[in-house]
This record gives sequence, structure tokens and C-alpha cells, in this order.
Amino acid sequence: MAILVTGGAGFIGSHTCVELLNEGYEVVVLDNLSNSCEESLVRVQELTGKTLKFVKGDILDRDILNQIFETEEIESVIHFAGLKAVGESVSIPWEYYNNNITGTLVLVDVMKQHGCKNIIFSSSATVYGDPAQIPITEECPKGQCTNPYGWTKSMLEQMLMDIQKADNEWNVILLRYFNPIGAHKSGRIGENPNGIPNNLMPYVTQVAVGKLECLGIFGNDYDTPDGTGVRDYIHVVDLARGHVAALKKIDENPELCIYNLGTGHGYSVLDIVKNFEAANGIKIPYVIKNRRPGDIATCYCDPQKAKEEMGWVAQYDIKDMCEDAWRWQSNNPNGYEK
Ligand code: NAD
Ligand code: UFG
Repeated sequence: MAILVTGGAGFIGSHTCVELLNEGYEVVVLDNLSNSCEESLVRVQELTGKTLKFVKGDILDRDILNQIFETEEIESVIHFAGLKAVGESVSIPWEYYNNNITGTLVLVDVMKQHGCKNIIFSSSATVYGDPAQIPITEECPKGQCTNPYGWTKSMLEQMLMDIQKADNEWNVILLRYFNPIGAHKSGRIGENPNGIPNNLMPYVTQVAVGKLECLGIFGNDYDTPDGTGVRDYIHVVDLARGHVAALKKIDENPELCIYNLGTGHGYSVLDIVKNFEAANGIKIPYVIKNRRPGDIATCYCDPQKAKEEMGWVAQYDIKDMCEDAWRWQSNNPNGYEK
């Protein structure tokens, strides 16, 4: 029996493959490499001393999916594949809806045809919109998303819930990630954004390595302790282990579960800068800029439900996240490019 990991060559997917292989799972990765490269999977295999099967292909390609389910005994799917750049989704919404939504519908249809009804889906804290309460529990109502990317997550959650409701042979686990950063301790795999990073930590590490001059902080007039945006940063290895916990949960036939994956601690942009500087002894020059449209002031979760129901708790703290992000960036200034 094997686990199909869609989008397994990407940032969170590659770290999850390491944890799955270390736990003894057989892994099949399907990725079209639109935002990743095969080198990440070469390194995953080096790190674990184990092999996985890689299929280069698209979740929109029914034939490739059929072939995988015909040749492999897939017991569950961890579904990471998707486009994820918030700003880009505003410019090319059709591509986001087609890739993320049509792609998932094709995947789920092929799963159903082959009698595989276990799926763990990569959702996001973005589905809470501007959250009704802090810390955010899973009972907090979903909100208005500010971009097409966010809507794909919100709509896919609803679709998967409806499919599960109509057929209780399905087990659907929706994992709402907060802000994954950091990298594997080895410094061999990590986040590899194309072009100028949109997200905070890759921007900080690229300033530290000298590829970018100065961090722009998007607003210092939010209603937060220092005026900059507060988020729940979570080490990507903790997040990856959350998927192993979710797979174990699936063995209990839980039908539908929704979990926040975060640490429960909020750090501001300035906290991240200070922690990065302290952990790595590197100064990060910054300037204050205007607020970024669509950003909210504060977003952090209550991770208690994942602890109670899956026994999952984040282990790494902000110092680990800053050190590990820097080890990856400094050892691989150009990501996976040789
Ligand atoms: P990533 O871009 O590194 O990984 C996504 C992978 O999916 C890439 O390897 C890409 O090549 C692949 N892919 C995209 N479309 C595909 C398709 N049609 N067919 C096959 N492969 C395809 O992103 P990530 O940060 O690892 O995110 C993984 C998942 O988690 C995504 O669904 C993302 O939306 C979600 N998520 C990420 C964050 C975050 O901050 N990184 C937060 C919340 C949710
Ligand atoms: N920020 C800056 N400068 C930058 C980048 C970010 O000041 O160059 C600030 C933002 O304004 C925000 C904080 O740093 O206050 C974090 O921003 P990120 O872009 O790193 O992360 P977001 O919280 O905006 O969004 C991320 C993912 C989304 C996901 C969300 C919740 O990009 O896909 O976390 O999981 F939905």
C-alpha cells in the first residue's frame, strides 16, 4: 500500500515525503514541476536513504492519474498540488480556478473510480478571512477571502465536505496551515520561490544572503503591539509531521476532520526580523512601506484540537525556524539550481 503525494516536489510536499519515508510509508509523488524541480526529491531520497516513485505529470491529466491507481495500490492521497501565489491569482484567476479546482475534481473522481476514498487536503488559514476571533479555533466561521487563491481553498473545502457528506466511506481531513517557514535541519531541502519572494521569511533570507538589498515591511500602523502584522509561523517539519498524524487519524475512519496546524503563538514582522538577527548574527536592513492590500492585522490559531484528536503538537520554536531557514538559504543561495 502506498500514499500518493500530489505536489510532493514542492516546499511542504518534499518535507512531508521525508517524514513519510522515515515512518516507513511507501510514497508515490505526482508533480508537474510547475513550481519545483526533481532535485528536491533526489535530496529527499538522500536524506532518508529510501526511494520513492516519482511521476512527472498533472492532476488535470486523468490518464496519468488512472495509470497511477492501476499500477500502485494507493490507500490515501495527500493533496498538495496547487498554485499558491496570492497576487498572481488576482491577475490570472481562471488559471487558479482551473488548476486548483478542476484539478482536485479530476483527482477525486479518479480516486472514487478506484475505490480510494481517503484524502488529506492542504487548506489554509486564509479561509477564515479577517478572523472573527483570535486565537482562531476550527469553530470560527469561514470568512470572505480577498483573492481567487483563497477562494479556491474555501471552495475546495466545501466541495470535499459535500462529497464526504453524501458518501460516508470517504475520510476527508482538511488541514488549515498557518505560516510555514524554516527548512529541514540538514539544509538540503527548503523553500525555493521563483523570482522575488512574496512571503516574509524567504524575503528575509534573500536579504541576508545579499540577493536583495532591503526588506520592505508592509505597514506599521496595524492594531498590534508594534504596529506590524502578526502571524502564526510554524516550522515546515512540524507541519510535515502533522500530515503523518493525519494519516494515522485516517486509520480510525474519522469521516470528516478539520484541524488548524500552527503553534498558537503570534509573531510580528519586527519580531521575525529581530529573531532572525539574533539567531544568525546577521543584520536585516528594512524600510517601512504602505500596507499590502488584502493583509490582515493578526492571525494565529488555537492548535488544541489537533493535539487532542491527533496527538500532534509543534515542537520547534522561532529560533529553530530562523536558524533552519538560514542554513537552507546560505547553503543554497540559488535554491536547487546548481
Ligand atoms: P509549492 O508551490 O512549493 O508546492 C506545490 C507543488 O504542486 C509544486 O511542486 C507544483 O509544481 C505542484 N503543482 C501545482 N499544480 C500542479 C498540477 N496541476 N499538477 C501537478 N502538480 C502541480 O507550495 P507549498 O508551499 O509546498 O504548498 C503546498 C500546498 O499547501 C499548496 O496547495 C498550498 O496552496 C498550500 N498552502 C501553502 C501555504 C504556504 O504558506 N506555503 C499556506 C497554506 C496552504
Ligand atoms: N510582509 C512584509 N514584507 C514582505 C512580506 C511580508 O512586511 O516582504 C508581512 C506581511 O504584510 C504579513 C507578514 O509579513 O504581515 C506575513 O506575510 P506572508 O506573505 O509571509 O504571509 P501571509 O500571512 O500574508 O500569507 C501566507 C500565505 C498564504 C496563506 C496564509 C495563511 O502566503 O497563502 O499565509 O496560511 F493563505
